[in-house]
Amino acid sequence: MIFEHLSAGGCQSYLVGCADTCAAALIDPEISLIDRYLALAARDGLRIHYLIDTHTHADHFSATRQLARRLDAPIAMHRASPAPGVELTLEDGELLAVGKLRLRVLHTPGHTRDSMCLQVEDRVFTGDTLLIGATGRTDLPSGDPEALYDSLFNSLLRLDPALRVHPAHEYKGRSHTTIGDELAANPRLQKRDRAQFVEMMRSLNLGMPTHLTEALRTNMSGGKTVAQMLAEAAEHVPFMALAELKSRIEAEHPGLIVLDVREREAWEGGRIPGAKLLPRGQLELRVNQDLPDPTLRIVVYCELGRISTLAAATLREMGFQRAVALDGGMQAWREAGYPTQVGTPG
Ligand SMILES: [Fe+2]
Repeated sequence: MIFEHLSAGGCQSYLVGCADTCAAALIDPEISLIDRYLALAARDGLRIHYLIDTHTHADHFSATRQLARRLDAPIAMHRASPAPGVELTLEDGELLAVGKLRLRVLHTPGHTRDSMCLQVEDRVFTGDTLLIGATGRTDLPSGDPEALYDSLFNSLLRLDPALRVHPAHEYKGRSHTTIGDELAANPRLQKRDRAQFVEMMRSLNLGMPTHLTEALRTNMSGGKTVAQMLAEAAEHVPFMALAELKSRIEAEHPGLIVLDVREREAWEGGRIPGAKLLPRGQLELRVNQDLPDPTLRIVVYCELGRISTLAAATLREMGFQRAVALDGGMQAWREAGYPTQVGTPG
């Protein structure tokens, strides 16, 4: 078995491949690692056949949809998953064939209703059902401590104690543990009475994960994250460095329009000298009137250098093929000590 373990923050993902056939499955891929998954699969000579989410993640951005499109491979999740685009729905006890490997599905609701674990050979991918020294929380949407109790004590923990446990989250850099180790030492598994376990889970009082709303929105709807919107726009837009723009506006004939897409108040409060105001919210509607010549070279900027990327991409889409975005925003311009202009030009 070919096995690769990748970490992004505390999020763990796994590439599992059959050495005989070169077939592979990717478990819980995270959006920031897409290039690494593809590079690893290529390096190991693997073709990814399945993109698997062990559950609907509330705290990481799943890469299954983007990879499914790129690799022409199905997304596999438990049948209870609300996520759109799941082509392969799985149920308890079923097997997923990855070349000669067999990934066995255990439905383990509790952290979420659609949680599952996957056992293959000497190891089990436990998603957020069982973590190293902890369990998944049960206070997020579709969580249920009673169900988690059953999933752990009547299913997962009855597997061979020697099985290696690979969770979907690990924050202390440990690579794995075993079922036996967890039974012996995991503090949350010491309450073996159902009522006591449920009571403990209900009283954990954990803080909300960062990006909860955005992760649930995108993972459940198939929509894009803000970072994805920006990255996609950036793929279609060249950038200009702050120092380059400064030297160009200091030249006699800069040969470009500097376009400020912030609101009027911000523009009046301090702008790049000579910048023309066209707020992002009015861009499409005012473009014909304010920028009649689509052959002009335009440098777009905003406060932080993010909205300007979207605005420059929009301008390019509208035919302004020389629109570029400033690499950095007004904030960076001020911090660099570059000149600014204030007030309304008379
Ligand atoms: Fe989770």
